Amino acid sequence: MTKKRAAIVGATGIAGQQFVSALASHPLFRITRLGASARSAGKKYVDALKDESSGQMRWWAEGPPPEAANSIVVDEASRMSLKNVDVVFSAVESDVAAELEPQYARTTPVLSTASAYRYEDDIPLLLAGVSLEHASLVKRHQKFRGWKGYILPQPNCTVIGLAITLRPLHDAFGVKRVSVVSMQGISGAGRSPGVSALDAIDNIIPFIPKEEEKVALEANKLLGKVSAGRVVPATFKVSATCTRASVIEGHTEAVSVELEKKATPAQVAKVMSASGRALQKLDLPSMPEQLIEVHEDPFRPQPRLDRDAGDGMTTSVGRIRPEPLYRNGIKYLLVSHNTKMGAAKGSILVAEYLMRKGLL
Ligand SMILES: NC(=O)c1ccc[n+]([C@@H]2O[C@H](COP(=O)([O-])OP(=O)(O)OC[C@H]3O[C@@H](n4cnc5c(N)ncnc54)[C@H](OP(=O)(O)O)[C@@H]3O)[C@@H](O)[C@H]2O)c1
Repeated sequence: MTKKRAAIVGATGIAGQQFVSALASHPLFRITRLGASARSAGKKYVDALKDESSGQMRWWAEGPPPEAANSIVVDEASRMSLKNVDVVFSAVESDVAAELEPQYARTTPVLSTASAYRYEDDIPLLLAGVSLEHASLVKRHQKFRGWKGYILPQPNCTVIGLAITLRPLHDAFGVKRVSVVSMQGISGAGRSPGVSALDAIDNIIPFIPKEEEKVALEANKLLGKVSAGRVVPATFKVSATCTRASVIEGHTEAVSVELEKKATPAQVAKVMSASGRALQKLDLPSMPEQLIEVHEDPFRPQPRLDRDAGDGMTTSVGRIRPEPLYRNGIKYLLVSHNTKMGAAKGSILVAEYLMRKGLL
């Protein structure tokens, strides 16, 4: 099969580097263009990765920066030509995405990690194992906007592990309300401006601006249903407390759920472990063997031990037990990789699905 030609915008940032790393040796995509700000434009990718004043390499992803990308000259994102591009993976901040993404989408599909278009009525949030059937809205979205392409945003990295674990609970027992406390990895704040080590090390920062609202809104949109040409969100209440913990990578979340129907921890573990099976049949390269891995060891999951499960694509769950505060209550902890399933590779997995469905 001919590989699709991919542009990565925000390619020098943390999420962008994960795109570069994952696409450099991908069986369905090859990188043809890299875009970033005026600071990086005109430089070879490997040079654009260097800090301007110190010369320090700001490569974040595993292994060295891939040869396939190093010699590509970075474009200024607002002037990037899409002539040899079949799909744009966008990893810029929301204000920049709000300007750039519609510009690209006029001609080319855009898969984005930014929040700019997540809350638009005509734009679904696609997440493997949770809401891929919402892709049925893509053609309508294109018609509504008059675009040849489209914008499909990746959900917020904190809601991803939550929604992946809520989906099997909602389908089997019904979700009535959810309380979640997150302890989020520092890399989730990106590089610019990011979180200062002086603030983060040996500490927990008790507030992440706008995060709690995003988690509540997006969880309901993700678990919603398509009806009359739009997503009708689920209606369960979500109470989120989002904190930044002294962890490099991986979001840990303590979740309490009130279910409509009573379920034992063993029943919860069973439906979670089976989640995502139908997707396995599509043979998507980035799909992990287990979408959710349930641990019995009460000392799991831990970010250091579990964030890389399934190469960062598996949500690890443990300590499933009754929640005595709720009728039909259940609680658990989860760990989810914020820059892999939570950003670049999660978005690439959606792109693989869209290819299989003839939408890319
Ligand atoms: N980090 C995560 O865990 C994570 C997870 C999920 C979603 N996200 C989302 O992904 C997006 C990127 O986050 P990040 O953490 O990767 O941020 P980051 O490390 O700060 O990287 C930002 C990127 O945007 C580029 N950029 C800045 N201003 C630009 C402009 N005016 N035009 C074009 N490019 C510009 C930067 O290029 P230069 O190097 O040239 O300045 C850099 O490549 C955000 O929307 C974030 O919410 C991040």
